[in-house]
Amino acid sequence: MTSPSQNPETPTGPATPADAPGELQLLRRALHRRPELGLHLPHTQRAVLSALEGLPLEITTGKALSSVTAVLRGGRPGPAVLLRADMDALPVREDTGLPYASEVDGLMHACGHDLHTAGLVGAARLLAARREELAGDVVFMFQPGEEGHDGARLMIEEGVLDAAGARVVAAYGVHVFSTVLPSGTFATRAGTLLAACDAVDVTVTGRGGHGSMPHLTRDPVVAACEMVTAVQTRIAREIDVQDPAVVTVGVIAAGTARNVVPDTARFEATVRTYSEAARAQVETLVRRTVHGIAAAHDVSARVDWTPQYPATVNPPEQASFALKTAGELFGPGRVFEVPRPVSGSEDFSLVLQEVPGAFLAVGATAPGADPATAAVNHSAQAVFDDSVLDDQAALLAALATRALEERAA
Ligand code: NI
Repeated sequence: MTSPSQNPETPTGPATPADAPGELQLLRRALHRRPELGLHLPHTQRAVLSALEGLPLEITTGKALSSVTAVLRGGRPGPAVLLRADMDALPVREDTGLPYASEVDGLMHACGHDLHTAGLVGAARLLAARREELAGDVVFMFQPGEEGHDGARLMIEEGVLDAAGARVVAAYGVHVFSTVLPSGTFATRAGTLLAACDAVDVTVTGRGGHGSMPHLTRDPVVAACEMVTAVQTRIAREIDVQDPAVVTVGVIAAGTARNVVPDTARFEATVRTYSEAARAQVETLVRRTVHGIAAAHDVSARVDWTPQYPATVNPPEQASFALKTAGELFGPGRVFEVPRPVSGSEDFSLVLQEVPGAFLAVGATAPGADPATAAVNHSAQAVFDDSVLDDQAALLAALATRALEERAA
């Protein structure tokens, strides 16, 4: 593990804990104190607008969500590229003890989207300062509602990909991690980086009655329990281990009293897959298993399958471009190729379905913490090292600059 502060090639060395926080860190910590949930982030939107004030940007805000889209016109002719940050927090009660911990009870920037927001502001400042050299335009996409609220889809529908006047030719985004990756490292891979995510809700309807006389009922609880375990078995028997799937039932609910057979039972599951083939196969398998078991129990079942986010896929040439750019900026000791896809998911995948580009992971494990054991993203104890922000901004700016340069006439 190379310590970022020891790397002589670091253009803007991450601050040591003794240093006063930089401007981007201050912005990030202000956002951290005021987390907001979902598609409507009025405070965050105001903070972004005020942080961008004075920059030569064409700014529009969203209609269906409190997004910010900013366009920087380069001094030279050329196409447009897009840089994206998500901005929303999670319904988690913060338990970090940080001096700038959340001041909103029950909400926390537990996935580091506050760093994404501040980092993209940093990139906008860097690029605005060298606007004359830019061979085209840059679209900055500040997106609410990544955490299951479909924010990227809404911004695409409201035209973010065409905000500069023509469809962007490439798009880049990053995600910070409070664990696994040492602070100040950057990583991605060619092909599938993150899983697809779908939601399944199953409602089983039987006929309720007295718990002592189950023969007079049609018990939905027993049927639902069998469905939950049978789905796991079917996955193990039907899905190729080289193209795996995860189905996790996180909610199961039924009944009001121990001696009453209820009329209904229900469960909710999340599904993760890495290919469209496996995704379709799991849907078929879940529907068939649930309905088959319902028939065996003489109950009825309803399966609601809600597609959420597709897999995040980096075209190979875009992944190599991103790794090469990061390697040139920070030195090879701080840049890694991710060996296998990761089972998290992300709605930047929707942008990458429309235009080529790359999504990268940024290591932000807290100073002094062991990347192997530090609290994971979404945990109430997750701590992110925001001294990575200057480098994160520099990387985004470099990706935009070089992507435009490569296409310059
Ligand atoms: Ni996230």
